[in-house]
Amino acid sequence: MSNNRSSMSPEFYTMNGGDGPYSYSNNSRPQRLCIEISKPIIDEAIMNDLDLRSFSLSSNPISIVDLGCSTGPNTFMAVQNILDSIKQKYKSHIPDCTSPEFMVYFNDHSSNDFNTLFASLPPNRQYFVAAVPGSFHGRLFPESSVHFFHSSNAIHWLSKAPEELVDSKSLAWNKGRVHYTNAAKEVCDAYAAQFGKDMEKFLDARGKEIVVGGLMVLTVSGIPNGIRLSLQNPVGLMYHLLGASLMDLVKKEVINEEQAESFNMPIYVVNPEVLREAVERNGNFRVVKMEMIESILKTNYGDEITNLNWWIGTLRSVHEDVITKHFGSGIMDILCQQFTANALEITKNFNWDELKGHQLVVILKRYK
Ligand SMILES: C[S@@+](CC[C@H](N)C(=O)[O-])C[C@H]1O[C@@H](n2cnc3c(N)ncnc32)[C@H](O)[C@@H]1O
Repeated sequence: MSNNRSSMSPEFYTMNGGDGPYSYSNNSRPQRLCIEISKPIIDEAIMNDLDLRSFSLSSNPISIVDLGCSTGPNTFMAVQNILDSIKQKYKSHIPDCTSPEFMVYFNDHSSNDFNTLFASLPPNRQYFVAAVPGSFHGRLFPESSVHFFHSSNAIHWLSKAPEELVDSKSLAWNKGRVHYTNAAKEVCDAYAAQFGKDMEKFLDARGKEIVVGGLMVLTVSGIPNGIRLSLQNPVGLMYHLLGASLMDLVKKEVINEEQAESFNMPIYVVNPEVLREAVERNGNFRVVKMEMIESILKTNYGDEITNLNWWIGTLRSVHEDVITKHFGSGIMDILCQQFTANALEITKNFNWDELKGHQLVVILKRYK
């Protein structure tokens, strides 16, 4: 198996576009949970904390941004929820004022499938739209031009995997793994440090772009303080299986050891304290709410989660780009076979009721 991109180190990865069987559009139900869970929390924050009078009467339209929108229904659901809630607040707080117009910006990397996104826009939407390509770790908008930022299932993507993970002299050398399920503390710390650096850039840019009194909602897979990423966590299980499967492909000489050892997933399962510290260091935002909600996968998705197609759908729709940019496009089918074999073995005596994820919902408000 050839590594056709090894020297190019691509900087970013996107979800599978289009509407095929392994597209993000057709495999993003697991991520929709974040949007469903956050809806009542967002409604409450808009009702209690969004300063309509301080900005909206003089600045029409209201600008809403979805950062890391990808394709498919999730982004439209998230935007619609926010818009409905803001309209509701207008009605109840300023009944004699006509509802404002809304401008919605969909942001993602430039390689995101914006064509599919725009081809599937809800026909009856009551907002104007534009795409804003580029990394959310840098500036995307003019100063003080955005009223509401939303981002779901996106800020856990790091700008890169920590460099120490591939340094055999470092205590954070991540030999035999591609992530940090059951890994040494130094490996987990390296991931947390990279997330902290990325969030600094993210918050710095958003702090400039958002109006005073504006809100930002971040929802993402998290893990409670003091808990190690393990096989009982869906993200931990997924990357443990991915790592084990890649190491098996080394043994079978499909890929070489150096290729496997130089690959680490640039994904951080967000620890709330690490995020809180980044917000406090940055100083532009006040934490209105930070809530961690536990979800037992079996309760939310039923027997679907015991079906390996469900896991392969996520493996391919979300990770195909990052995997094939490192290992070459020919790896996916054989990797999925190996992943399936390993998943069958590991989950033989698995108690699916113990597979628990955590959704972290964070509401930030721009300080005066
Ligand atoms: C799992 S998808 C989430 C899509 C949608 N928000 C949802 O909740 O279903 C994560 C998205 O974040 C995007 N993303 C990751 N890092 C990014 C960055 N630095 N700047 C912009 N988009 C980014 C990816 O390209 C991908 O489309």
